[in-house]
Amino acid sequence: MDNKSYQDHFFKKAKSQGYRSRSAFKLIELNKKFKFLKNRINLLDLGSSPGGWCQVAKEKVKNGKIIGLDKKAVDKIKGINFLKGDFLDEKIRSSILSYFDSRIDVILSDMAADTTGNKSLDCIRTNQLCLQVLEFSKKVLGKNGAVISKLFMGEDFEEIKLNAKKNFKKINFFKPISSRGESRETYIHCLGLYTL
Ligand SMILES: C[S@@+](CC[C@H](N)C(=O)[O-])C[C@H]1O[C@@H](n2cnc3c(N)ncnc32)[C@H](O)[C@@H]1O
Repeated sequence: MDNKSYQDHFFKKAKSQGYRSRSAFKLIELNKKFKFLKNRINLLDLGSSPGGWCQVAKEKVKNGKIIGLDKKAVDKIKGINFLKGDFLDEKIRSSILSYFDSRIDVILSDMAADTTGNKSLDCIRTNQLCLQVLEFSKKVLGKNGAVISKLFMGEDFEEIKLNAKKNFKKINFFKPISSRGESRETYIHCLGLYTL
């Protein structure tokens, strides 16, 4: 199957299963591999619009707290608190922290910077968001907490890998089959901060 056919296949599959995005299957695959969605956890989903990852998270996380954040508004999902704003905004970060009364167990990020037409620049901007997620996680993630974040294979890939290795006991990269249509996209899974 070529890239376009992959995207079409997962788009149709998402529609038939009631998911808002084909990205939902990426989270299903990531969770199959790393098993981070559990009952009673505090979970933050960054870049949550239109809500596919939150739908998957809600199916697996019973009696936990889930926040979805995006610059765009997201249609309601029962049991999920959506915030509209920019992850880079300090005020938004404070709102996130005040919602969770303890540390966060899982931080997901599928954030992608707006495309400019310049692939190399787009890659750098999305990878900067990934670095920001890793930095933020150092302050808020609980013991044995996990971060799963999108990033692109590009010139600053090694910088992110080094940063993650320095701070987490275990790191892995995984490209879901459902991500195959997006050639440079991959995901990093980081587990257990050293500093705790
Ligand atoms: C690929 S989509 C996420 C799809 C989502 N995981 C789903 O399953 O429906 C990427 C999202 O990241 C959001 N985004 C990008 N930069 C952001 C930022 N700085 N703060 C919040 N959201 C951001 C975009 O608005 C976009 O909706």
